[in-house]
Amino acid sequence: MKHKIAFITGVTGQDGSYLAEFLLNKNYIVHGIRRINSNNNLNNLKKILNSKKRNRFKLHYGDITDSTNLHKILSKVRPQEVYNLAAQSHVHVSFQIPEYTHNVNAFGCLKLLEAIKNLKINCKFYQASTSELFGNNGNKFQSEKTPFTPISPYSISKLYAFNLVNYYKHQGMFACNGILFNHESPRRGDSFVTQKIINAALRIKNKSNETLKLGNLYAKRDWGYAKEYVIYMWKMLQLKKPENLVIANGKTYSVKEFVNKVFLKLDMPIKWQGKGIKEIGINKLNNKILVKIDPYYFRKIELNNLYGDASKAKKLIEFNPKVSLDQLIDIMIEKKDIDI
Ligand code: NAP
Ligand code: GDD
Repeated sequence: MKHKIAFITGVTGQDGSYLAEFLLNKNYIVHGIRRINSNNNLNNLKKILNSKKRNRFKLHYGDITDSTNLHKILSKVRPQEVYNLAAQSHVHVSFQIPEYTHNVNAFGCLKLLEAIKNLKINCKFYQASTSELFGNNGNKFQSEKTPFTPISPYSISKLYAFNLVNYYKHQGMFACNGILFNHESPRRGDSFVTQKIINAALRIKNKSNETLKLGNLYAKRDWGYAKEYVIYMWKMLQLKKPENLVIANGKTYSVKEFVNKVFLKLDMPIKWQGKGIKEIGINKLNNKILVKIDPYYFRKIELNNLYGDASKAKKLIEFNPKVSLDQLIDIMIEKKDIDI
């Protein structure tokens, strides 16, 4: 049987690793780039590396900012599908390293698209775009028609890439943007808010004396399950013509609601006291302080509310997310993925 060939940047990350597993299950040959790192960064790929599918999975040392390297790999691999998931993906950090963030997220995407074009590779291209593009534009729901008002170096770099993808599409390439709202999993990086809350709550449950320090409790996010969302990246590339699509669960919760849910599930119901940076979350059962505010985690500009309208994806790629926020929290507490 002839295998399809996919190339994934960001394959060591949360989404890249799930996508690689999904494509290997679909019988693809999957190539990915890993950055050289003093420490092992292959944790998310353990499942693949320990399975028989490993012989259809090829890792290359590489970096999205290195066009010579991209050119060399792509000229050998000549993939039919390219998924550009590599990014400096942390919004808060992007305020501290805006230039680096642009080099990776914006110019990295440009280098990849140029390599594909110059090598005349006939492939379909998926770009990991983001709901961060919407910024605070006052819309209750955000869809493909909602104007973009990016407010962080991260979202500005991603808007550059979004526009680039449209530009190459107009040059005749099958290129599309998945506008994904937040999605989480046991593989979520430790410094993103969901994983940070869950890990701290688990440590406290296991007798750690620490207090969880958070920034803005009132920002709202539309959270989904990463393992489920990557399926729709693939589905977008199976369409006859490229479309930019919003992928979102269509429910929004504040960080505070997320905290309440997690601690309650671990038998530590929270009551809140105080206001502003003096607000604290206390265990109702023993009055121990569980949560405090640390202004370090405030952002220069905060995106207040994400609430996605994925009607177009529902119509075009039968987008039908099944995992609710409560299930997602259970999955993350258990640190065990479910079958989708
Ligand atoms: P992630 O876990 O942070 O993974 C990012 C990946 O990019 C990692 O594999 C990382 O490699 C790689 N990377 C970073 N800089 C690179 C470079 N210079 N060259 C090559 N690879 C590089 O992110 P994720 O949550 O899986 O998200 C995947 C993509 O979707 C990202 O582009 C993100 O911006 C976008 N996105 C994510 C969400 C979300 O809620 N998760 C929502 C919308 C859009 P290392 O392992 O070496 O660090
Ligand atoms: N990280 C973090 N740490 N966020 C905190 C904290 C904290 O201690 N306290 C409050 N928050 C708030 C942030 O201010 C933000 O409003 C919200 O929690 C979510 O933060 P993150 O989990 O860091 O995610 P994000 O929404 O900024 O960005 C993620 O989603 C985007 C899609 O909307 C990332 O995955 C981006 O790459 C992605 O594009």
